[in-house]
Parts: sequence; C-alpha cells; structure tokens
Amino acid sequence: MTNAAAGLPRTIAVINGKGGVFKSSIVSSVGALLAEAGWRVLLIDLDIQGNQSEDLGLADSTDEGKHQVAVIPAGRPFEPQPTGRERLDIIHGGIELEDLASVMQGRQARDPEWMYALGKSIASIRDDYDLILMDCPPGLPILQTLALVAARYVVIPTRSDAGSRKGMRLVARRFAAARAWNEDLELLGVVRTGITSSAKGIREEVRREIAADLGGAAPVFETCIRYAERPAKAVRDTGRLPHELEPEAERWFKARFERLRERKVKEAATKPGAHRADRTDEAEIVLAPSTTGLAQDYAELAQEFVNLLGDAEGRAEESA
Ligand SMILES: Nc1ncnc2c1ncn2[C@@H]1O[C@H](COP(=O)(O)OP(=O)(O)OP(=O)(O)O)[C@@H](O)[C@H]1O
Ligand SMILES: [Mg+2]
Repeated sequence: MTNAAAGLPRTIAVINGKGGVFKSSIVSSVGALLAEAGWRVLLIDLDIQGNQSEDLGLADSTDEGKHQVAVIPAGRPFEPQPTGRERLDIIHGGIELEDLASVMQGRQARDPEWMYALGKSIASIRDDYDLILMDCPPGLPILQTLALVAARYVVIPTRSDAGSRKGMRLVARRFAAARAWNEDLELLGVVRTGITSSAKGIREEVRREIAADLGGAAPVFETCIRYAERPAKAVRDTGRLPHELEPEAERWFKARFERLRERKVKEAATKPGAHRADRTDEAEIVLAPSTTGLAQDYAELAQEFVNLLGDAEGRAEESA
C-alpha cells in the first residue's frame, strides 16, 4: 500500500531534467491564474535559483529556502507564506536548498522512509489548497525524487531541441523509479514550450517526437507556450507575471501610437534624425503584443490543467 505522504491529491510536480524549458514560468503563471479564478493555490519552489520568488516580485521577502531546510528533515508541516495575491501562497526556494539536498542524501542510508519527507511536510496542509504546484530543479536528483514521491501528477514541459528531449527521457526514468514508492503517480501531460512557429506541422512533429521519446501514446497539452523573450525578461525584472503586465502592455501600445501621431505633425520641420524611434519605444512596441500573446497561452494552459485534472480525477473515481 502506498504511504499516506505519497501521491497527494491535486499535487503536481512540474519537472524536466533539462534547464530552461519554462518549468518555473509555467508554475508561477498557471498558479497565479488559477488563484485569480478562485482556486486556493500553493507554489513550492524546490530550486536553488528561487525563480518563484522572482516571478512573483518577492525577491526581498524570500528566505531562500531556509524554512524547507528546517521542516522537511524534521518531519514538520510547512507554514506557507502569502504572495500578496489572493488565494496564492508560496514555500520559497533558493540557495539554502543545497543544504536540504545534502541532508537528505545523508538520510538515504539510514532512514527507510526518507523518500516521503517532502510529502510529510505537505500532507497536513494539503486540504488548505485546491492545487499544489511544485517547481522542480533541473539538477539535484534527490529533490526531484522527493517531489515525484509526494506528487499525484507530473507535468513535463519540453522544448523541441535534442537536449530538452533527453531531459524528458531522464525524467521518464526517474518517474518509473518513483512509482515503486508512489504507485498512483500519473503523467498529466507534456507541454511543448519555446515554440517559435505557429505552423501546425511543426507542432505535430514535436508531438510525434514526444510520443517516440516516451515510448508510445503520451498525453500532450494542446496549448503550446510561445517563445517570447522580452516579456519573459520583463517578468523576472519586474516581478509581475505576463497577465499582470498585460494591462500595462496595452497602455504602452496606445502611448506609442499617440507619440507616433504627434511626431508626424511636429517632426517635418525639426532636427534631422528625430524621426527615429528611441530605444524605449522599440522595446515597448515589441513588448506589447508579445506580452498579450504569452498571457493568452498561459490562460489556455491553465484551463487545460483544470480539464485534465478533472478527467484524471474522474478516471480515478471510476476505478476506485
Ligand atoms: N515564453 C518564453 N520565451 C522566451 N524565454 C522565456 C519564456 N519564458 C521564460 N523564458 C526565459 O527562459 C529562461 C528559463 O525560463 P524558466 O526559468 O521558466 O525555465 P526553467 O525550466 O524553470 O529553467 P531552470 O531549469 O533553470 O529552472 C528564463 O531566462 C526566462 O526568463
Ligand atoms: Mg526553474
């Protein structure tokens, strides 16, 4: 029988053994969007980079993962922190998690229940939330395993390059190993990220490659997350998510065109070169539509999370 601290309901590990496939961005955006939609959401950042705190604008209030180091090895429950957004809480990650990895490594030899440690810290607060998303590190395999044992579902973001797909195959192996301790673990779906083309052919090609990598029919999200570097950078720089930047993007867009109109009238007789847009203007005009597009991708992805969770829970109920 599976341990009570394993396979926790509505608990999802977002994971890929490869770096930079938008794991953290998916966790922060999907989490925040579902919280806005009325869900009670907890984000657990298991990465030393602490990107959740950055994406949510909490870089000043993060403990860099200290709380996790204090409670997980001690078997104590998490005390989540607010994010300044309604219904959205966080367990911060950061550099202190290096200690957690080495403490848990030491545990492996002498504690037969070491793999349930993260699940134990989550279990007693599980019912306070409708959804728990874990942002997994690209390295630190021991933290990945803890997440895969605590989680009921796995979401794997992947880009189409060979490296990301190798990372995905690595996760598939780790997934299979974790099942020995967490038999309910299920792949909710693979998310295609960093897509630069809207061409259906390319998207379908990536879908076929994913199926080949995972050894057959694999659930794949319909929504792809587009490549949009500028808004992604703006998120980390400002601590505001794509959908939170969107109203601003619209204002930038309008302001830009107003300035353009004004210039048309004024500039004919003014100094040479004045017709050239300055650098800020150029940044704004690219930022505006791509921010809206990216925010839209995440809204669709969040909806698909809800649908796929509903389907999976329906199937589980039927077979119970
Ligand atoms: N849609 C996007 N288009 C382009 N770049 C993006 C996009 N989303 C995020 N990025 C950038 O790509 C990098 C990786 O994103 P993110 O941190 O979400 O990925 P990750 O898989 O969590 O990475 P890591 O493995 O390092 O934890 C970051 O610099 C981020 O700003
Ligand atoms: Mg990350």
